Amino acid sequence: PEEHHLIRRHEDVFVEPRLLIGVGAGTEGGHFGAAGGIGQPLSLLMKLNPLVSRLALYDIAGTPVSLLTSATLTPDLRSYVFPLSPLVKGYAADEQLGQALEGSDVVIIPAGVPRKPGMTRDDLFKINAGIVKSLCEAIAKYCPNALVNMISNPVNSTVPIAAEVFKSHGVYDEKRLFGVTTLDVVRAKTFYAGKANVNVADVNAPVIGGHAGVTILPLFSQASPQANLSDEEIKALTKRTQDGGTEVVEAKAGKGSATLSMAYAGAIFADACLKGLNGVPDVVRLGKNGVEEVLGLGPLSDYEQQGLEALKPELKSSIEKGIAFVHGN
Ligand code: NAI
Repeated sequence: PEEHHLIRRHEDVFVEPRLLIGVGAGTEGGHFGAAGGIGQPLSLLMKLNPLVSRLALYDIAGTPVSLLTSATLTPDLRSYVFPLSPLVKGYAADEQLGQALEGSDVVIIPAGVPRKPGMTRDDLFKINAGIVKSLCEAIAKYCPNALVNMISNPVNSTVPIAAEVFKSHGVYDEKRLFGVTTLDVVRAKTFYAGKANVNVADVNAPVIGGHAGVTILPLFSQASPQANLSDEEIKALTKRTQDGGTEVVEAKAGKGSATLSMAYAGAIFADACLKGLNGVPDVVRLGKNGVEEVLGLGPLSDYEQQGLEALKPELKSSIEKGIAFVHGN
């Protein structure tokens, strides 16, 4: 319980007329720490998103709400400075969670502990599983139709936890639950662009699988623009994408895992969800009901095919672990 208490911070943001987004406001300790975790920068990015009409920020450790409600600006001035500014409100106490979630169309969950050097994402399970479970129970009750963007690790297990909780409340819709692995795509694109010597903005690099080690499988054979990379170079890029998170954890030497890049990736993903909900046709995979189309894997190289076979057992056992947690096994 003590650990659990230590960890809470995360928020739920939303938008109206249809949209709400939940963001974890993470920072160590203070409300406005410059070293702020995922939630704070993600909150800020979501605040700037014109599709967000209401942003509810929830964190049990206290929400950096003043950052977002612009405590220093009067409401008048605020509407002048940010004409599209959503209504932003912070919620901190357990009993406010329902209020935060009510009416939300999108809920983003970056609540929970991040890794320290030497830890795998699975090492976070003990603490984060309980956090995710309780948040999902509240979602099932207060906004069962929301699109849920799960950032909390281990994503490979927290997504099945969410699914099982929703099933047990009779509100599960596989089209509306997402594990956010966009950061793996951001990394794959960045590393590929560096190696291929092309502009990262022009790169498309699909990534399949889950979000931990070998379960992250970039499909560089389908990356564009095409580059003549050797097998060795592809292997090195694959490994670096798979280990990207660990690289950050080690570089931060005990001060957590990726935060700003995750906020960026989380904002991209949430934006795609918001566009889908608004019926923007450009986002062909997401629509008014969440997922509209599950794309096939496309042609895989032999190396990727081997990677796919290799990731299945780990992914399966992480999924089973999440399911067992909810059912008390
Ligand atoms: P952090 O420790 O800076 O922030 C976590 C926040 O969650 C804290 O403010 C804490 O008070 C809050 N929290 C804990 N329990 C809560 C609850 N029940 N309700 C509301 N808020 C609660 O951690 P950071 O760096 O922001 O990371 C958050 C999570 O995101 C970690 O699990 C981390 O592993 C994961 N992550 C996921 C990535 C991905 O690609 N999906 C990438 C990077 C991190």
